[in-house]
Amino acid sequence: MQNIDYLKKNFQSDLFLIQSNDGLEQLRIKYLGRNGLINQALRNIKNLLPTDKKELGEKANKLKNSIIRLIEKRQKELFIKTDRKDYFDATLPGKAYPKGSLHVMTLAIEEIRKIFEKIGFIQVSYPEVEWEHFAFESLNMPKNHPARDDFETFFIDTSPDKKYGKMILTPHTSSGQVREMLRTKPPIKMINIAKCYRPNWDLTHAPMFYQFEGLCIDRGINISHLKGTVDYFAKEFFEPKREIRLRPHHFQFTEPSFEIDVSCGTCLGTGYVNKTSEVGQTYAVNENVATEKPRRFKVRTSEVNKAKCRVCKSGWMELGGAGIVHPKVLKAGGINPDKYSGWAFGFGPERCFMMKTGLSDIRDLYGGNIRFLEQF
Ligand code: FA5
Repeated sequence: MQNIDYLKKNFQSDLFLIQSNDGLEQLRIKYLGRNGLINQALRNIKNLLPTDKKELGEKANKLKNSIIRLIEKRQKELFIKTDRKDYFDATLPGKAYPKGSLHVMTLAIEEIRKIFEKIGFIQVSYPEVEWEHFAFESLNMPKNHPARDDFETFFIDTSPDKKYGKMILTPHTSSGQVREMLRTKPPIKMINIAKCYRPNWDLTHAPMFYQFEGLCIDRGINISHLKGTVDYFAKEFFEPKREIRLRPHHFQFTEPSFEIDVSCGTCLGTGYVNKTSEVGQTYAVNENVATEKPRRFKVRTSEVNKAKCRVCKSGWMELGGAGIVHPKVLKAGGINPDKYSGWAFGFGPERCFMMKTGLSDIRDLYGGNIRFLEQF
């Protein structure tokens, strides 16, 4: 008896899900076919007491008739749905059209632009297809200078210009420095955010990438202005507790030159993260992965041991290059270096974004995988 009630319930929920004639036919076979569920239930009757036989037989026949009726009804409904063009089922969910959105780098660049806009830097843009003159010569990098090899460059296959040299895809936003000096007079506060091209393709290098170049020229500009500006940027873009540091470096177009690092958000510049352990347990500290074997220590009472920070390994992450604009570059831009001085920096928005989010492969940004990009 219970079996019949159970069949009835199951049929109702099965019918509810049917949306096509094919599905309905499958359902009919499942319940009313020769080996269908109703016939199976009727076959079991012979094992029952005579009184139960009668009751079950009646119930099963009743259910069979009701199934036939309900299937016919559903058939009519499906016929109306599929054959009547003006049929409108207001209960069906609407179509969700895919929505476009700005690329994650467009958003990051916009954030960077706004940070510099707040302190009076004006965004400019200069050609992506550039002359060697602006990318190298005017930046104190003559043709035969070995530093020029560092910027493995894409050269355009056309005859060179007598004055400006070969045509190239700009390898860095520093090409905009002299262009900006020629366009306007000091005081200059430029932020040049643009596409750059170099033939590299690995975890941290893309052949097309962005750089943002800050250039500030006025009377009495010095390194402290550079430090203050980059420190402000690091605190705005990453978080207020971040610090920056300058390391001596060499660029042809700045003197002195630096690499600028930002403290790691995970270990706050210490290079280590705390890891509490059981007393007596040993732990390894590997100061220099390249040369040293890890040294093992035993945890003493109430000691909190240190593990090397996996995000930065040293406490600091590189933002990019910077320095005080070389007098020869000022001269190339028609600015008197005895009157004016300036600083410049060039950082990569992709790398900044990766440091902020923990993304480890730059290629994910340009791989065109919508499921990845939709996360941001
Ligand atoms: C330069 O390009 C200098 N023009 C920076 C500069 C500007 C120095 C002004 C002094 C004054 P560098 O080659 O290190 O320097 O590149 C700067 C940043 O651009 C790097 O730190 C990195 O963030 C980014 N970058 C460079 N090459 C790539 C690449 N192939 N893919 C992604 N990002 C890159």
